[in-house]
Amino acid sequence: MKTLHVRLVQATYVNTMMKVAFYDAKPYDEEFFNRQINGSELEFAYHDFRLRKSTAVTAKGADAACVFVNDEVDRACLEALSENGVRLVALRCAGFNNVDHHAAAEIGIAVVRVPAYSPHAVAEHAIALLSTLNRRLHRAYNRVRELNFSLNGLVGIDLHGKTIGIIGTGKIGKLTAQIFRGFGCRVLAYDLFPDEAWAVDFGIRYKELDEIYTECDVISLHTPLTPETHHMINKESVARMKKHPIIINTSRGKLIDTTAVISALKERKLRGVALDVYEIEEGVFFEDLSHDVLHDDELARLLTFNNVLITSHQGFLTEEALSEISRVTCENLICLKEGKGFLEGTLVGD
Ligand code: NAI
Repeated sequence: MKTLHVRLVQATYVNTMMKVAFYDAKPYDEEFFNRQINGSELEFAYHDFRLRKSTAVTAKGADAACVFVNDEVDRACLEALSENGVRLVALRCAGFNNVDHHAAAEIGIAVVRVPAYSPHAVAEHAIALLSTLNRRLHRAYNRVRELNFSLNGLVGIDLHGKTIGIIGTGKIGKLTAQIFRGFGCRVLAYDLFPDEAWAVDFGIRYKELDEIYTECDVISLHTPLTPETHHMINKESVARMKKHPIIINTSRGKLIDTTAVISALKERKLRGVALDVYEIEEGVFFEDLSHDVLHDDELARLLTFNNVLITSHQGFLTEEALSEISRVTCENLICLKEGKGFLEGTLVGD
């Protein structure tokens, strides 16, 4: 584990402060959360390490633990939190696959999340990834800086008129689909619960999953990680893809079987892959490893393909999203303090 580092930030002193142990804290988290807690009755201990069973003891005396996507909040961790007095786990993100909320309910710890902070932030990032990868901007940027003004190897495709497949038409998937319509793309969608009225409004057609695989030039993933969506992009689904598509994943890394995608890239079955999320982000994403050794051989292999673009789970990283995440989380912490119900739609498992 990294050196333990804690920074205590306290709002104006009040006897009955609500104490919050804040895990995997980054400077931008502190900046936006400190804006919210000013003048409130919240006291934050910012830890730059992640929460898991072995670090849960650091929540001793805290009423709540504030966690992010790579904290490991399993049953053992929740039991340890409970023993240390924690009554609430507040996820400062939308996805909650890293928290065993069934165990939390049994143990008596409430779990809240921020279901919608800025779906625009993630949808726009998905488009940015695709545009960069398609027009080879990542390569062009580096070339020009080296005074290499040649264009060889930078050929992209027009998105206009191409068929885009959106898997998961919740808040983010819908916005992504709508932006693609603005490019003049034909957009097909798949969701367990299709919203036909929305589809009609934006000229989008729902199809079966298999048709997304067989018909689309670009496939963008926007479902949560569930047992059903785990490794939905695998050897079989890639074999169904007839158009050598670009795959974009801004949702959760485990939607993609990395081994299968690496094989498909080696066999040139995919035009490209753009990832904001990765199967094993823990210990790598959000960290500066530029002076270290990368131990993940599959991630290292992915980074060798010039048609793979990876960002480090930054889809959410806009000022608007960080403001909303900190606002909703702090309001829920105040609700806990005052014994009021949590904000509508934020309680996991409700
Ligand atoms: P949402 O809950 O609004 O939409 C999810 C959609 O997926 C729903 O329409 C649901 O019916 C559908 N779905 C669920 N299981 C499915 C299945 N097996 N097959 C097909 N469709 C299925 O969620 P939202 O806000 O659009 O977020 C989507 C995902 O994006 C989140 O679960 C999260 O993992 C990821 N995310 C990533 C961020 C980033 O920074 N890269 C930030 C925020 C969210």
